[in-house]
Amino acid sequence: MKKLIIGAYGQIGSELRVALEKRHGLHSVMAADIRKPESEDSDFVLLDATEKDSVFGLLESEEVDEVYLLAALLSAKAEQMPQQAWRINMQVLFNLLEAGKEGLFKKLFWPSSIAVFGPHTPKQHTPQYTVMDPDTVYGISKLAGERWMEYYFEKYGLDVRSLRYPGILSWKTAPGGGTTDYAVEMFHYALRHEPYVCYVAPGERLPMMYIDDAVEGTLQLMSAPAEKLRIRSSYNLSGIDFTPEELARAIRRYIPGFRVEYRPDFRQQIAATWPDSIDDRFAREDWGWRPRFDLDKMVREMLAGLKQTQYPEAELSL
Ligand code: SER
Repeated sequence: MKKLIIGAYGQIGSELRVALEKRHGLHSVMAADIRKPESEDSDFVLLDATEKDSVFGLLESEEVDEVYLLAALLSAKAEQMPQQAWRINMQVLFNLLEAGKEGLFKKLFWPSSIAVFGPHTPKQHTPQYTVMDPDTVYGISKLAGERWMEYYFEKYGLDVRSLRYPGILSWKTAPGGGTTDYAVEMFHYALRHEPYVCYVAPGERLPMMYIDDAVEGTLQLMSAPAEKLRIRSSYNLSGIDFTPEELARAIRRYIPGFRVEYRPDFRQQIAATWPDSIDDRFAREDWGWRPRFDLDKMVREMLAGLKQTQYPEAELSL
């Protein structure tokens, strides 16, 4: 039985793929993406997940037990093409929900996001159950998706599992099109010893997480016994939270001259509607979630990884 990752070469897919291969063996993972990767180190299949026939065809020809559906347009990109983003984000989810309903695989992981919250949501320690009035296309599609996940669980018994990811920081593969991408960009500029112009306001606090925690949380949720899971929409998940100013300060401990200028744009308006911090007690209670990375540990990992792979010349004392 294989694990199928759709969107396998994106920010999360790239690392989840490696983690799943480590856990289940190299040929237990099938990597699908809409573009061919530069180097194929897993079993790869070209797939446009918006095409129902292609999705069904693939699942009918392979023995798949778990699907990780990571293909989506993120918040900032979705605002540039609202109709298209809605269509893509919902269509891929429905294709997989329907395939699951038909028994073509057993378990579906689909990520939701802090973007499901909105301007009237309590900002601090945002609870699992609260006001949700997202005002971005991305957030609306994630909230609708959560409701559909739960619906397929309740009506058809499909084993669906989901996490509301915060902004995710990683150095191996960059994020693309998100509001929280600024945090990753900052590291690249710092290591190039260039000033960074930040599109989010200096004091805008957002929930964030290092990629290793995100991958670990995903694996933990997927291997948790079904009867432990009280939530089939999507679990709140918390790692760290910081403002751009705090992140810049944390980077300056290792790169003292790093400068940041602030020119907030439309992405600041998106960020302003999202929580400052998240209450993830259900994840902790139901399947033992504990993040491992605090701000400083994450900063050190990011700097070390990027220096080693992309900026060997950077002056840095870790
Ligand atoms: N990182 C995502 C974004 O900024 C939030 O889920 O769009």
